[in-house]
Amino acid sequence: MANTSSLDAVSSLCKRRGFIFHSSEIYGGINGFWDYGPLGCEMKRNIKGAWWQSMVRDREDVLGLDATIIMHPAIWKASGHLDTFSDPMCTCKECKKLMRADQIEDIRAEVAAKAAANGGCPYCGGELTEPRPFNLMFKTVVGPVDDPSNVAYLRPETAQAIFAQFLNVYSTSRISVPFGIAQMGKSFRNEVTPRNYTFRSREFEQMELEFFIRPDEAVELIYGKVTTMADQPDLSVPQKEWGWEVWHKYWVEQRKSWIVRCGLPKDSFVEYWQKPDELAHYARACVDIEYAFPFGQQELEGIAARSDFDLTQHQKHSGKSMEVFDEPLKLAAAKLDDAAKAAFADKVAAEWQSRGKDPEAARAFVAKLFEGRYIPHVIEPSAGVDRMMLALLCNAYEEQKLVDDKGKEDLRVVLHLSPMVAPVKVAVFPLVKNKPEVYNKAREIFEYLRKRTAAFWDEGGAIGRRYRRQDEIGTPWCITVDFDTLADGTFTVRERDSMQQTRMTLEQFKAMLDDALIF
Ligand code: GAP
Repeated sequence: MANTSSLDAVSSLCKRRGFIFHSSEIYGGINGFWDYGPLGCEMKRNIKGAWWQSMVRDREDVLGLDATIIMHPAIWKASGHLDTFSDPMCTCKECKKLMRADQIEDIRAEVAAKAAANGGCPYCGGELTEPRPFNLMFKTVVGPVDDPSNVAYLRPETAQAIFAQFLNVYSTSRISVPFGIAQMGKSFRNEVTPRNYTFRSREFEQMELEFFIRPDEAVELIYGKVTTMADQPDLSVPQKEWGWEVWHKYWVEQRKSWIVRCGLPKDSFVEYWQKPDELAHYARACVDIEYAFPFGQQELEGIAARSDFDLTQHQKHSGKSMEVFDEPLKLAAAKLDDAAKAAFADKVAAEWQSRGKDPEAARAFVAKLFEGRYIPHVIEPSAGVDRMMLALLCNAYEEQKLVDDKGKEDLRVVLHLSPMVAPVKVAVFPLVKNKPEVYNKAREIFEYLRKRTAAFWDEGGAIGRRYRRQDEIGTPWCITVDFDTLADGTFTVRERDSMQQTRMTLEQFKAMLDDALIF
């Protein structure tokens, strides 16, 4: 069942049934921008709801944030996006087409029929310019004067607002490290070559958590040890002695479990651990969760251990201290005599030096630790709503060849979406629409259900055709109200995947539905 779909089949269903439309289609569309139709926006809300439930509401150590898309441009200077958030881009000197330097071979394969054999432009064979950086941030102007001093940027990630508001959230929330701040919302990247349907878009939504942890040295001072992965820790319940490595792996496991609960089979995605030479200079580890899309294995989301880089950058650029005060740390340090403190400082300086870091900076950092102060380190699980939705749709799509009792062949298109993400949870049908008692009873059941979940009413056509219409949009259950409903209150519940039918009362159905929708 899983992922037998082609991208064309999925995108055609999405268009036909109102999941996803090309933005501005009546004007010929705009490349890299997609609109979510009536069913698509319901499904997207479900994905975001499932993320918020598991990352914020189910936890006592994560708080939410909803920040603006346009922020002070200094944020993007501090984060490095202004100087380094770019893709290398070439232009063909003949046909003037722009393309990402690292995608030229892929594009060449796609337009192989037109490709020239001389290694030039894949479109016309012309000579290419040297690759040059192209910043991916969309620029805009704030206020009426179109002047360089008023330039601002649409955020290319939701994460930076979390760092910029770290002090406000921390000082107003009576929370201590380790804790996280979560945000979801629109991000914008002026991708050079948006491609693979919604996979790489220019406007998309992210769901990001910045989880702030103690530096390992603080953990060691307080607890006398730091748990690493070599200790083979149980990752199910966070422990105070965990070092960054264990926290990172913990979040990888949390995210994988969320992805499975949303409906992607365990064997449909893999962990790709970035190699040391692929990591950003400040990152200690980064794992991409890669899903087997119809166009190849590609990143669904990433989980990075970003050290104290981001908060340190914002401290440097804003002049505001990003340090937290950690009472247990100060108390632990106070128990050490001068010799023990000196030995600890020597050990940390040597360890930093072995990682190519300044040993003097290590000593200044340790002196702060003895006062109970540090800039928290961070683990960042960063997911894309649109990519998750595309993966779920690709995985759910199936074309089944059925043969009826009379030997007649039929094609059933079905989306095997989990009830949690399915845009419609239940469809209600009156068996007949010309019998007021049956019709009104069905309407009554529908009104009850629609107040409690995403329900759909359909009174048109044969029941079999009504089932098929719901199968195609992934509705897990269809209810048919008939004459027996009037007598004993039961109706037929038809389950999408097995196509099995059972009779239930409204109370029984509601209990089953509630159970299926607990995330
Ligand atoms: N704060 C870290 C960050 O933004 P990223 O790997 O650039 O990291 C995180 O993006 C996630 O956002 C990706 O794994 C993907 O799911 C989503 N994403 C990034 N660029 C995207 C694009 N152009 N279109 C759709 N989703 C995108």
